Amino acid sequence: MSSRTLTTRALTGSVGVEISGINLNDEFDDDIANQLRDALCNNCVLVVRDQFLSSEAQLRLARVFGDPFMPSYYRKNTVEGFPDIAIVPNFGKAKAPAEGWHTDWSHMTVPPTVSVAIPTVLASKGGDTMFSNQYESYNRLSDGMKKFLSDKRAKFIGTRPIGEDQKVVTGDDLTAKAKREDVVNFHPITPTHAVTGRTALYLNRPGSSMIEIEGMTPAESLPILEYLYAQSINPDNVYRHSWAPGDIVCWDNRCAMHYGVHDYGDEERTLHRVTVGGVI
Ligand SMILES: [Fe+2]
Repeated sequence: MSSRTLTTRALTGSVGVEISGINLNDEFDDDIANQLRDALCNNCVLVVRDQFLSSEAQLRLARVFGDPFMPSYYRKNTVEGFPDIAIVPNFGKAKAPAEGWHTDWSHMTVPPTVSVAIPTVLASKGGDTMFSNQYESYNRLSDGMKKFLSDKRAKFIGTRPIGEDQKVVTGDDLTAKAKREDVVNFHPITPTHAVTGRTALYLNRPGSSMIEIEGMTPAESLPILEYLYAQSINPDNVYRHSWAPGDIVCWDNRCAMHYGVHDYGDEERTLHRVTVGGVI
């Protein structure tokens, strides 16, 4: 296939880009791969519509961004024949793990970088996903705050099921009924993005997923973390995606937080998601 320049369109003034004029079910060359990678890493979210990707094509696209990553405890909830493609169902409103601004799996030793999601079943209405631009959240800080944060790491915490055989299929598997253990890791708050070389603000839910700045108490840290979090999600720094059949949405966890809006009750809604680049 001869290469060409992809058509791009900004989705907002701050975050997200849409690419059109390509069928990602077809193979593509390295030049196209580089354009896809640059588009995502610079804009934090990449949308391609009307694709209806096969599982093979979804994995091929994910590999543009790195090696697929799947925790062992999630492997039983994957697409048959594709152990790197997670099935993400409706866990129910009360257990919605994605409702709230967050970064995927920030407690891991090396948090995953990119997620590539496609819908297989959509609710009759609702179910949007929102994304923030964490480069821009950093850019908006004062020089004094940037300097303060420049050498700071935060303590990120999460849990994982104990034992290889546990499944994450229902909301209960995510919470109390499954036997779980804490996982804690420290990561820089203002990391340099490996692809773009730009600085982003790396955050998760203050007080639950991100509990203190290294060397400080939670009481000292939380007002700062709460401020950083709140100013990241101003409406002028957010793209809200309304899913349609055939969509592909990729987000870069190194420069975006996201929020799954749960306004579709118990209706069936399922995404297939490949996550890239993590180490548990
Ligand atoms: Fe998420």
